Amino acid sequence: MPEFLTLDDVDVSGKTVLVRVDINSPIDPETKRVLDDTRIRLHAKTIKELVDKGAKVVVLAHQGRPGEPDFVPLKEHAEILGRILNVPVKYVDDVCGERAQAAIRELKPGEVLVLENVRTLPYEREKRSAEEHAQTELVKNLAPLADLFVFDGFSVAHRSHASVVGFTAVLPSVAGRVMEAELKALSKALEAPEKPCIFILGGAKAEKCVGIIRYVLERGIADKILAGGLVGHVLLAAKGVQIGEPNMQVLVKNGLADVIPDMKEFLERYQERIMVPEDVAVEVDGERREVKVSELPTNYPIFDVGMETMRAYKELVRGARSIVVSGPLGVYEKPPFVKGTSEVFGAVAESDAYSLAGGGDTAAVLRKLGLHEKFSYVSTAGGAFIEYLMGKKLPAVEALKEAAKRMKP
Ligand code: 3PG
Ligand code: MG
Repeated sequence: MPEFLTLDDVDVSGKTVLVRVDINSPIDPETKRVLDDTRIRLHAKTIKELVDKGAKVVVLAHQGRPGEPDFVPLKEHAEILGRILNVPVKYVDDVCGERAQAAIRELKPGEVLVLENVRTLPYEREKRSAEEHAQTELVKNLAPLADLFVFDGFSVAHRSHASVVGFTAVLPSVAGRVMEAELKALSKALEAPEKPCIFILGGAKAEKCVGIIRYVLERGIADKILAGGLVGHVLLAAKGVQIGEPNMQVLVKNGLADVIPDMKEFLERYQERIMVPEDVAVEVDGERREVKVSELPTNYPIFDVGMETMRAYKELVRGARSIVVSGPLGVYEKPPFVKGTSEVFGAVAESDAYSLAGGGDTAAVLRKLGLHEKFSYVSTAGGAFIEYLMGKKLPAVEALKEAAKRMKP
């Protein structure tokens, strides 16, 4: 476990606690309403603990990005949070101006206030150090009103943004329960995983997978990589397989042709440890058709791993003691092509190995397949999860460690 403090290390009773959560949620582009309250429910646990302990709770969060359709105020999030907590939750459409400050001063122990979307501040998303962000109006105005900063938004921990790191430079700062649970779950898989340890990598972010493969194979964390999705396409291409014109075009369109040389190098160095599909499924007139890799190229789009590959992957899953899953193995939105993902992830769910999953699409597909509850842990994070698997230092984690050093006697 990294050296940061948690809610177990502080007394919050009667204190004003600024808690940065990540309740960034899918928003209906037409109605602008919140479509899924998963993240709000999750952070409600941390907020409830603070409420129960008699803290004055100030919630800081973002929603969407300026200019995008999901960039909306946090008013509805505050209402949803109130319903989940079953206590009135106040909301002010101001982040750090006079009205926000007055609302914070008026809070009583056990009350909750949600501030406006922090990304309405033009400097919020600037990539700066904790000390630099401590000079922003956000931190200068709000820190003097608070006794403690709680960072709970693991899924935004990879952003060196003002509300993520700024307060840690000037306030006692600890990790909230979500942050703590995420880091525990991830370090269990990455720090000393029970062996054999396999990583199942799929989805479309193959360029990120280059970093993951490098990190987990070089460090001896993973014994085997099982590839699918576009990661599988790239590895097949790197092996010299002609995957066919439409499939090469998909790689080019996703900017993935450039990662072929890296993958080639991995295949040479770690031959035995990188499993590439032996067969695939293509779409012909809306139907699924199995094609052996030896029969490629194909003029049809590859949308899934094939039956032989599923069998081989499931066998490896059954023998593993730790399994990390990032990215679906096929185009799961199309019913005939969810099979690879449902079969292999289903085997992970049945296994009694430690199973960790993450990445935006992965959590969604697990929920869709009813497998979510059967994994040991499913991360709420997309980008932060992937950066963690790449061995990158996350700014929020580093900031909490620095804060802990200052807080220790
Ligand atoms: C997410 O949903 O990925 C996090 O909330 C971070 O959002 P961002 O990618 O817009 O920084
Ligand atoms: Mg994101």
